Amino acid sequence: MRARRALLFMPGDDRHKIEKGAALGADGVIMDLEDGVALNRKEVARETVRAALREVSFGRTERLVRLNPVGSGLEEADLEGTLEGRPDGYVVPKVESPDQLAWLDERLAAEERARGWPEGSIRLLAIIESARGILHAGAIAAATPRLEALIFGAEDFAGDVGATRTREGWEVFYARSAVVVAAAAHGLQAIDTVFTHLHDLDGLRAEAEFALRMGFDGKLAIHPRQVAVILNAFTPEPEEVERALRLIAAFEAHQAQGKGAFAHEGKMVDMPMVRAAKRLLARAGR
Ligand code: COA
Ligand code: MG
Repeated sequence: MRARRALLFMPGDDRHKIEKGAALGADGVIMDLEDGVALNRKEVARETVRAALREVSFGRTERLVRLNPVGSGLEEADLEGTLEGRPDGYVVPKVESPDQLAWLDERLAAEERARGWPEGSIRLLAIIESARGILHAGAIAAATPRLEALIFGAEDFAGDVGATRTREGWEVFYARSAVVVAAAAHGLQAIDTVFTHLHDLDGLRAEAEFALRMGFDGKLAIHPRQVAVILNAFTPEPEEVERALRLIAAFEAHQAQGKGAFAHEGKMVDMPMVRAAKRLLARAGR
């Protein structure tokens, strides 16, 4: 699976932001057709996204489009308006049941067959952002092999349960954690919610590091200045890579001597630490 450390949102009706976002080195951009676009601008947004997909050079950045929710009545026009641009994947908001993804899966498979594209090539990322979504997160995570990531949406979730957002985020902690658990149980990536304070980069860094420690693979961005901070938080430092390599070397040497647990640099080491070190190396692309 490709790295998805930083995914940058922009309104789908804003060509300037799409072009700007395409050139920032984010792992992906999410061109929005849902809540970032006014109701009377949906059609303009579909046309803008379709044209951008064909004309803008995104380099290695993944080209994602956020649909309106399946069942909203807008999703069919969203697909019809953007498929021609052949996005790499769709981000599906407010997913509450596996049926919504199963419907999309069939719809996309039919398009892929009709257009001669490899079946299963259009990926899906599902946003879990309601009480029902959290309750059904396990079934949603297993809905289709097209699904590669679960995204946690804290603002909509808080609204749904009647919580008030705070900087500490305890009101969404259970849900945030449930998304990590469901994703891990089904081999999917987990991507953390947006950080809405556009000028507080220290706060963003702290929240991204917190998300990393919880097990998230990446975090959503909503402004260009957030991208580098998030990429940095989810990319291991050279010293961390060195430490992981030393730990694995020591583990292998002890295994050869028939020792499963051993002391290393002042700490007990056994299998879970080795797995963590291997994950860190994978994040570093090693
Ligand atoms: N993607 C790409 N470019 C963006 C951007 C984004 N998300 N947000 C801002 N920019 C660009 C602006 O167009 C501007 O470009 P310019 O200097 O070439 O004119 C530059 O970055 C600086 O922007 P700034 O003036 O600081 O922000 P703003 O007041 O124009 O916009 C927001 C603030 C919040 C409206 C904007 O950041 C945004 O649209 N974010 C994404 C919203 C969204 O998609 N929401 C749905 C998902 S939650
Ligand atoms: Mg939302």
